[in-house]
Amino acid sequence: MVYQATVSAPVNIACIKYWGKRDTKLILPTNSSLSVTLDQDHLRSTTTSRADPSFTKDRLWLNGVEEEIKPNSRTATCITEMKRLRANLEAKNPNEPKLSQFHVHIASKNNFPTAAGLASSASGFAALVKSLATLYQLPSTPSELSLIARQGSGSACRSLFGGFVAWEMGSSPDGSDSLAIEVASREHWPEMHALICVVSDDKKGTSSTSGMQRTVETSALLQYRIKHVVPERMKLVSEAIKTRDFNTFAKITMQDSNQFHAVALDTEPPIFYMNDVSRAIISLVVEYNRVSVDAGGPIKAAYTYDAGPNAVIYTLKENAKEIIELIVKYFPQANQFRDPFGLFGENGVQGKVVDGFNTTVVKPFGIGAVKELIHTQVGDGPRVLATEEALLGDEGLPP
Ligand code: DP6
Repeated sequence: MVYQATVSAPVNIACIKYWGKRDTKLILPTNSSLSVTLDQDHLRSTTTSRADPSFTKDRLWLNGVEEEIKPNSRTATCITEMKRLRANLEAKNPNEPKLSQFHVHIASKNNFPTAAGLASSASGFAALVKSLATLYQLPSTPSELSLIARQGSGSACRSLFGGFVAWEMGSSPDGSDSLAIEVASREHWPEMHALICVVSDDKKGTSSTSGMQRTVETSALLQYRIKHVVPERMKLVSEAIKTRDFNTFAKITMQDSNQFHAVALDTEPPIFYMNDVSRAIISLVVEYNRVSVDAGGPIKAAYTYDAGPNAVIYTLKENAKEIIELIVKYFPQANQFRDPFGLFGENGVQGKVVDGFNTTVVKPFGIGAVKELIHTQVGDGPRVLATEEALLGDEGLPP
């Protein structure tokens, strides 16, 4: 009998940023956060987990390379917690095979290059937890699994759901109420699209984990943000999502990205995640929105940045074409835009700007400043995949 499961899990990008822990072991945040889950058809982590009595220890392979599972590491914690849930189930159902006592082999891969600087820890830990939950046939809800994924990487707890997801910070010291919930499904607002501008970056940045800890220890602005800013924004952006109010969604998303980078700057020593290209993209989005708003129209695009220079631009489907034209004009691409939604004909992207756009707000950059432009949309939660998709071969090892 082969006990094995393969799943995929999505990436999520926050509109209200998680930045700061009140408990670094349990990964309990200093504020709630909210994100949009992106489509796994474009970006995903895939993970196969297998339990077998012949395995001599727990083993993990990431993108084909074996990684040591260190005792007490975040990966070890997630595996232990999942085995504990399985053991509970076995205790209640004595006929169930004792999988909790077997070691596991886990193989995981991302379909996007790590070099792109896109956070893979969120989709990676969500896929790890979901694959073990499937292997162990646990009846757990996504919120229950989010409690465990959270201990792998905070933002991973939000990748257990599709659509629009809140991570409620909770108040319990044991973390039992610090979990993800669905604010709205993908079907509620399928017009929500995202453009990821992969920005070239040659220096090694500060990791989220160490950066946010330094912010907690040194930034006075973070304390203000936690107490006086995030609670109100959580309410406003949840409401904006429920009423499909892109204007409010966009405004708050940009404000919150700005404030996250402000608390990074307020850290000692200061942390800079955005670079000149990141800032130029902000100027383009601001000018693009100005043209619309001055003509009595809505805000049409919202930028947001995580712990690196890549930009994610949220927009409604109807505006995606204009924004891609704009980005390509200022950041010429080495390769043709992939166009997964078939917006452009044979001639491809022309680099057009909308009428009234002040073209002097930014000087065009050279080829490669934005290495790649990925067009995607709001997506669904983790998927259980067929046996053919498995990343482990007959012997329980990667091929
Ligand atoms: C800027 O989840 O990577 O992307 O919990 O230490 O693993 P750890 O941090 P991580 O931090 C993500 C920070 C962020 C904002 C966000 O996703 O909310």
